[in-house]
Amino acid sequence: MIKLDLTGISNFIARDEWQQKEPVTAAHDKLMETLGPEHEFTTWLNLPETYDRAEFHRIKAVAERIRSDSDVLLVIGVGGSYLGARAAIELLRSPNYNLNQKSTPNVYFVGNNLSAEHINEIGHLLRNKNFSINVVSKSGQTLEPAIAFRIFKDLLESRYGDIGAKSRIYATCDRRSGALKQWADREGFQTFVIPDRVGGRFSVFTAVGLLPMAVSGVDIDKVLAGAFDTMKNITTDRSFQNPAWQYAAARQGLYRKGKIIEVLACYEPAFQYMAEWWKQLYGESEGKDGGGIFPASVTLTADLHSMGQYLQDGTRNLMETVVSFDTFRRDIEVPATVDDFDGLNYLAEKGLESINRVAKQATNEAHIAGGVPVMEIILPDMSDTAFGHLAYFFQFACGLSGLLQGINPFDQPGVEAYKNNMFRLLGRP
Ligand code: PA5
Repeated sequence: MIKLDLTGISNFIARDEWQQKEPVTAAHDKLMETLGPEHEFTTWLNLPETYDRAEFHRIKAVAERIRSDSDVLLVIGVGGSYLGARAAIELLRSPNYNLNQKSTPNVYFVGNNLSAEHINEIGHLLRNKNFSINVVSKSGQTLEPAIAFRIFKDLLESRYGDIGAKSRIYATCDRRSGALKQWADREGFQTFVIPDRVGGRFSVFTAVGLLPMAVSGVDIDKVLAGAFDTMKNITTDRSFQNPAWQYAAARQGLYRKGKIIEVLACYEPAFQYMAEWWKQLYGESEGKDGGGIFPASVTLTADLHSMGQYLQDGTRNLMETVVSFDTFRRDIEVPATVDDFDGLNYLAEKGLESINRVAKQATNEAHIAGGVPVMEIILPDMSDTAFGHLAYFFQFACGLSGLLQGINPFDQPGVEAYKNNMFRLLGRP
């Protein structure tokens, strides 16, 4: 289960300034009410319980098939249609997943940019490899994945012929209306459903996240079990014992006191894409009506050597949220040397994990002393179950936090502006 340590904010905000039961209860009730059929985009709230079991079994069967006939799975999608899957694979398998020796296919993510360099490079990596495509788009009209799909579908057809290619394309899309769904049905691709009223950034517990995860060997039963466990606890606990209440109310309290940027920090490089997923979740949900906390992230200790000066000493409008783990998958000792040439023998035979923990403690203390409130989210381990806990926790807390801020956390009207300009400049009829 998730624990929160909020001792690092006590110098910056009094408990009664953020632990206000009435608004948080109202936000909680409002969030739970949105499950009614007349509301939009909150089916994700009970997905860990209600997720279509037949579809879930089909995901596992298709993952097995892709594992048996493909060296590579190409996941084509952008934003919420790929970040959760990538976050899970990097955290639970490895950020070097594709380089490691393993019995599961490589997973390449494309269609999340318009870079010819990137697409050409992936095309090069696919030479002499058997591959399948999972194209993920709720609308089916998003430019980046649509262009990438055209390119890689052509490659697939040239490799396997029209019929062979069709059996290697899996489309994850809207149940009935999106352009991709219509095309997939016409062409006969196998499809998975993004359930109604689940926005892209809340879709990690659907086939959007689960199929690529399962292909990479992540245990999706455990992921959903973790999410379910957290769902049961945090949707029913209407008190400040609830970690989602604590996180949502504390960050909104700090925001009211001028901490307008939240830096998500983790001492594990494998967490980097989890932070990217989190940034989309909170940025798209809360950046509205001229307000909202700006979500940023750092990977520590690496970024202490690039962003450390600013974090310690720059504009004091930051809050920091550190994600940490109680136990680790593996450790390694610092070797002793006879001549102590670098003066590090005082650390000899110490586990690197204990040194990393000391770095975290030292940094937390320095940042608090330097004027940055620090919240810590503590997970038991870096397991498939813990991923389920954390992703569900962040989603629920995001809904609460957005409602406390007084905006609708489930729409994203602002993302249309640049698209309209781009389509005009590209001459779309
Ligand atoms: O959260 C969102 O809604 C967005 O990030 C979408 O996921 C992203 O724009 C991709 O959209 P689509 O799945 O329709 O291609």
